[in-house]
Amino acid sequence: MRTLADFDKDFEAKYTLDENFSNVLVRVDYNVPIKDGRVTDDTRIKASLPTIKHLLGKNLAVILMSHLGRPKGKDPAFSLQPVVKVLQDYLHKEVKLDKEVKFIKGPPPRPSASGYSDVLNQAGGLLPGSVALLENVRFNDGEEANDDDLAQGYARLGDAFVLDAFGSAHRAHASVTGITKHLPSYAGRLMEKEVSALSKLIDTPSKPYWMVLGGAKVSDKIGLINKFLPKVDGIVIGGAMAFTFIKARGGQVGNSLVEDDKLGLARTLIQIASAIGVKLQLPTDVVAARKIEKGAETEVFPADQIPEGWMGLDIGPDSQKDFAKALQGAHTVFWNGPMGVFETPPFDAGTLVVGKAIAELSGAFTVVGGGDSVAAANKLGVSEKFSHVSTGGGASLEFLESGTLPGIEALS
Ligand code: 3PG
Repeated sequence: MRTLADFDKDFEAKYTLDENFSNVLVRVDYNVPIKDGRVTDDTRIKASLPTIKHLLGKNLAVILMSHLGRPKGKDPAFSLQPVVKVLQDYLHKEVKLDKEVKFIKGPPPRPSASGYSDVLNQAGGLLPGSVALLENVRFNDGEEANDDDLAQGYARLGDAFVLDAFGSAHRAHASVTGITKHLPSYAGRLMEKEVSALSKLIDTPSKPYWMVLGGAKVSDKIGLINKFLPKVDGIVIGGAMAFTFIKARGGQVGNSLVEDDKLGLARTLIQIASAIGVKLQLPTDVVAARKIEKGAETEVFPADQIPEGWMGLDIGPDSQKDFAKALQGAHTVFWNGPMGVFETPPFDAGTLVVGKAIAELSGAFTVVGGGDSVAAANKLGVSEKFSHVSTGGGASLEFLESGTLPGIEALS
């Protein structure tokens, strides 16, 4: 994977030959949570700053591009406008959101007289050291289909491309992989950091090695469990995915979420784990309610005796202690997925306890990934204590499963 160190070498050489070399396109992942027009968690924005600052330090103009959500067409509800303020505050400079770029087909280089948009054309082009943010790339026809005309259109805006959107590097889209066919392309600082930390989980984990997995579905984590069962000492399983395992063992899970078509698979995983001596730590008790609602009436039940009409929505107090105890002494921990319905208190309690237990492991290599788990670490104020906070949800799982991603391949 070519990195910013390669960019620097190439840039020094090019810059002396071509004084017009000025615009660098940077694909970032600003798919951030937004409520009432405000960014509620800016982890991904902060993570993109080292790359942006590096390029600005070379007096280049930076054109940022990102997706936000999964819009159907140009839906203003998915505008990147709320990100602008956060970026400006961190960079201490104006960031212009470019809403109307005309993507011109044709191979680079960038023509000197262009007709892209007001923002990109001002004063004969972007001024050195300035920052523009293109509106949501998923507003463009062909982005997700990796349309080559669109990729060429993007490429015509700049002189080089930096991929720093680790969270989107599992998507072979025009602004992630397509564009790399048309411009000299490099991995940004965040990509490098993510790949290095996650590679350690694959190649050189120190034992005891535990995974903590949660979230709604076993199906999202099958690839990961299959790959890591032979490598780990144990897997803590919380969230609704635990109910598929508990039901597979013959437990009564009431109205809890279960993937009935994955019961056979769960049974097989339980058998394999037991045969190779890997501990699968499931909840023994759960906090249940009749509906998912803030302040709903709750009861604690044994995890395999949940009455009809009740749903397990968080791990119970005994399981909180058991999970924390199981992780004691671990030297490597990877955590992905909440232990309960994290966004609806009081069902966030189990996730917070488990997050704290991992953060407080001393001397361990700890990695957290996935929106809710990272939000829990932030809420607890313990993200700094993790060895690495991954900005990738699906991307970090896919990287761990396969050791690479389409975005990484495109830069190699
Ligand atoms: C994420 O949040 O996982 C990334 O931004 C990718 O988003 P996507 O699943 O909509 O491609």
